[in-house]
Parts: sequence; structure tokens; C-alpha cells
Amino acid sequence: MDSRTALIARLPKAELHLHIEGSLEPEMLFALAERNDVTIPFKSVDEVRAAYDFSNLQDFLDIYYKGMGVLLAEQDFFDLTWAYLERASADNVRHVEIFFDPQGHTERGVAFETVLGGINRALAKGEAELGITNRLILCFLRHLSEDEAFATLEQARPYLDRIHGVGLDSSELGHPPSKFARVFSAARALGLHVTAHAGEEGPPEYVYEALDLLKVERIDHGNRALEDKVLTQRIVDEGLTLTVCPLSNLKLCVIPEIAQSPVRRMLDAGIKATINSDDPAYFGGYVNANYQAVADALDLSDADLRSLARNSFAGAFLPEADKTRLIAEVDAA
Ligand code: ADE
Ligand code: ZN
Repeated sequence: MDSRTALIARLPKAELHLHIEGSLEPEMLFALAERNDVTIPFKSVDEVRAAYDFSNLQDFLDIYYKGMGVLLAEQDFFDLTWAYLERASADNVRHVEIFFDPQGHTERGVAFETVLGGINRALAKGEAELGITNRLILCFLRHLSEDEAFATLEQARPYLDRIHGVGLDSSELGHPPSKFARVFSAARALGLHVTAHAGEEGPPEYVYEALDLLKVERIDHGNRALEDKVLTQRIVDEGLTLTVCPLSNLKLCVIPEIAQSPVRRMLDAGIKATINSDDPAYFGGYVNANYQAVADALDLSDADLRSLARNSFAGAFLPEADKTRLIAEVDAA
């Protein structure tokens, strides 16, 4: 192992952009399809992996929503989340902020409580046995309506002790943040943290809307913000965290090659960029693989890698005292 790979492995990290349904590995897809008697259009794990060849976000989402169709019972959501936590632990991830897409399940007749129950049971076990702290972020699917988002927030209300924030994901183009301004306002009034996918495929205007209308505390992806100098400077001045997902960007053709990842430019501009895996089962790597890919392609220094790890804790929805302690661990690593 070279010294850069060793540093990546050793650094304590937070993962702030991870869709739990996107951690469904083909092996588990097959096992759950069998356990739940669900038909899937694949004969083998190899055939599944071969299908993970995407030209854009929608291409991926079409398969992602089909894949999650094998998740039916509370135990399925537990198994999924536990498998992710074990992998995160192997990458020395110390804190996770996990997105889940309840509408992808409730629209198939799976109860909100079933989804939340399984994810939460695994998160509690992960904290007790692996020492990984967590935050859970409910994402609204932006291709669905504002009314449906409000209905989902209503379903979440009895469980706000276990849900820490809301996010916005799914098909970005044609579904600007403005569509969800009111439901985000309602979520903020409930004391929830707020973040949103913006500028993955969508234009800088969507990032402005996420900031001005949704009043987000972080931007998920944010690649295209760099097209706008004023916006870039605002992100620097406001100290906003961007959750960048290098292997996702590559697989979804947001960038033509990993050397085009915006991470270097963001760090140089003074943006608090972080490295995340997004949907690791679909994009070919968990968090350390994402660090490694950009470190190699952009020739990141040890100081850059430490900055990225520090940013991951600084941008977390954690109390300041916890952030300070975890950042000190990065410095000591
Ligand atoms: N849902 C899961 N992964 C996503 C991504 N990268 N962008 C938008 N929605 C998603
Ligand atoms: Zn995402």
C-alpha cells in the first residue's frame, strides 16, 4: 500500500451523501429477490453489473427504483443498512448522514414505519457496536408533486426524534428547488436540518434556488455552481459544504473522466468540499475508493486529503463540540 492509500485508510471520515437504497449490492439484490419472491429481470450478478452502464442521471434512476423493489420487510431495510455500516466501518468512517427515499417504498405499499424501523435498528447497532454515529435525512423525490412531499412530511412527524433532516433528490432537470419551497419551509419550522441535490445536472440557477428558497445548509453535488463566479464566491463566503461524489459523477457522465472532478477547483477556490459515495453499489466504490480516485487523478496532497476529511466533520449536522473532537482526530491521524 502506498503512503497516500495508507493515509486515506487511516483518516477518520464522515460520509454526508449516501443514499441507503444505493448501497444495495447485486448479491443482496438477488438474495432479497429470492427471500421475498420478487421477480427481477436479471439471471446473474454479472448481468446486473453489466446493466450498470449509465449515460445520465435518469438512466441510473430507472434501475435504482427497480432495484429497491426487492426491499419489503423491516429486516430487509435492516440488512441493507447494516451491510453499508460494515463497509463504512472498514473505510474508517466514523459518522454517517444517510439519505432514505420513503416515497420509493410507500408507493409500493411498504409502510413508512417498516422502512424507518429497519434503518434505525441498524443505525443503533452501528453506533453501539461499530462506534459510528449517525443522522438520518428523509429525501423528497423531486419528480413527484409538492402535495406528495407534504404527505411524506406528515408521515414523518411522529418520528422526528429519529429523523434529523430533509433532502431533495431524484430527477433534477425540470424539477427546480422552487417546486418545494413551501414543504422545506414547513420542515425547517419543525426544526429539521435541510439540504438538497443541486447543480448535479441542473444549472447554477437551481443552486441559487436551493440557497434562497429552500435555505439549505449544504449543497449535495453542486458541480455546476462553479460555472458562476458570483455563486462560487457566495459559497465560499457563506462557508457552505458541498457533498461531492466523484465516482457517481463519472458513472452518470456529469464529468467525462475523473480528472475533470471539480474537487481540486473547489478546494483551490476555498470551498468546503467533501468526498462521498452517493450510491456505491451502482457506482463502483465506497468512500475510500472515491478519495483514492480523486487523489490519484488530481494528485491531491496529504494536506488536501486531510482538508477533505476535516470538511466532512465540519459540514456534519453535529454539535460543535463533537466536530471539534473529530477534527482533532483527523489532525492526529
Ligand atoms: N437518488 C439517488 N442517487 C441520486 C443522485 N445522484 N442524484 C439524484 N437523485 C439520486
Ligand atoms: Zn445523491
